[in-house]
Amino acid sequence: MRHKRELVFVCTGSDCKKAGAKGMKKKLKEDFKSGPLKGKCKLIQTKCMDMCKSAPVVIVGDHFCKKTDADRVFAQIKKRLD
Ligand code: FES
Repeated sequence: MRHKRELVFVCTGSDCKKAGAKGMKKKLKEDFKSGPLKGKCKLIQTKCMDMCKSAPVVIVGDHFCKKTDADRVFAQIKKRLD
């Protein structure tokens, strides 16, 4: 049986970093290692995705989260896993 695992792409380009992507990535990483999302997500760090005006940018599966934060990313992941 195939396990469903969400790919979460976090932009760590300079504009997203300035907008708080680093802290958000750290929080996501910790929560992916423990808690209810353990083993269900894979965090992938990317370079600039050319959407700097919407920084910080995170892609969950095929959904773009613009001007986002960790809580909104979690909500999106939960929505997709349900
Ligand atoms: S730095 Fe994140 S989209 Fe450009």
